[in-house]
Amino acid sequence: MDRLAIDGGKPVRKDLLPYGHQWIDEADIQAVTEVLRSDWLTTGPKVGEFEQAFADVVGAKEAVAVNNGTAALHTAIYAAGIKPGDEVIVPPITFDSSANCVVFQGGTPVFVDVDPDTLLIDPARVEAKITPRTKAIIAVDYAGQPCDYDALRAIANQHGLTLVADACHALGGSYKGQRVGSLADLSAFSFHPVKPITTGEGGMITTDDAKLAQRMRIFRNHGITTDHRQREQQGSWFYEMVNLGYNYRLTDLQCALGISQLRKLPEWVKRRQEIAKRYDEAFAAIPCVEPLGVRDDVSHAYHLYMIRLDLPQLEVTRAKVFSALRAEGIGVNVHYIPVHLHPFYRKRFGTGPGLCPVAEAAYEELITLPIFPRMSHDDVDDVIGAVSKVIEAYKR
Ligand SMILES: Cc1ncc(COP(=O)(O)O)c(C=O)c1O
Repeated sequence: MDRLAIDGGKPVRKDLLPYGHQWIDEADIQAVTEVLRSDWLTTGPKVGEFEQAFADVVGAKEAVAVNNGTAALHTAIYAAGIKPGDEVIVPPITFDSSANCVVFQGGTPVFVDVDPDTLLIDPARVEAKITPRTKAIIAVDYAGQPCDYDALRAIANQHGLTLVADACHALGGSYKGQRVGSLADLSAFSFHPVKPITTGEGGMITTDDAKLAQRMRIFRNHGITTDHRQREQQGSWFYEMVNLGYNYRLTDLQCALGISQLRKLPEWVKRRQEIAKRYDEAFAAIPCVEPLGVRDDVSHAYHLYMIRLDLPQLEVTRAKVFSALRAEGIGVNVHYIPVHLHPFYRKRFGTGPGLCPVAEAAYEELITLPIFPRMSHDDVDDVIGAVSKVIEAYKR
């Protein structure tokens, strides 16, 4: 990668500011080491404790911990009863797992294009893609902005579909005052290090349906009805595998970290929103860049912050702007290559260019800028300074 600043002079930063980063403090470290000194490293008491704390934070009745966000989506799609031949509506601007989870269960993801302003799934386009085989909609709260859940709920109810939220970006956000995690029938979260809170790897599914929660707890434990600790407590060796399941368990070490991280969520979301506001204000005065649209009935969790480039007004490509920003020490990224353009989907499902024109056009213009709670004011100013410098150099 070219690390020379655009003018061959001094870059805005010497080090590379990442686009996202975890924040681990002494309380987190102590929480994990306490578990290391305890009897239960996995299937222990911290799992239920984390699940309860998480359910309380998002306002759901049940939370089921699993070992990553992809497993959370797979478990949710299993709970939704998706089986071979079923179709599930998915937006294309997302991480691959949002669609892969449908394929894991033998279903077919049906890509529905996004709203050109927010890049969230466009409810107006969903209806046209519903067939007798459609069983669920996956709403991806892209970047941390909740989807239009009223519109999606109305469509789901009318057609008897399960509404699943891929809320991996949106922990801490809300829609019309209702918290993410309580908006869909099943909501999936990720605790990867760049996400709103982290457990290293980790995930959670929330629901108000106790039966679905029970099905998911069995699924994450090989399809077996009791776990090791329950058998220990009952003094029994007997277990039965009732369904095909997986080992998707989250360890007690990770759950203890999750409990500790969760305490900091409100403060962290606030900080992300402050940074986004500062970016919005700054970019309003810089030509050729525009933030994504935000609906006024949501509280955006800002897992990611993207700008769109006005490419006809620039002398260079998005790739050149990207590498120029990296050369200035800004660890930019791109979220996401539309899922239906990946070779796997083209080969398996015959998808390709032209299927979702709004998403495909938006993808060409997107750049993700750094945003994470630990960024200092100077870091934020560096990002703004670098964007301004690069745009100034390349605008027509
Ligand atoms: C929208 C979305 N869904 C699902 C996932 C999968 O989460 P994990 O990486 O924890 O498996 C991610 C993570 O990158 C994501 O961004």
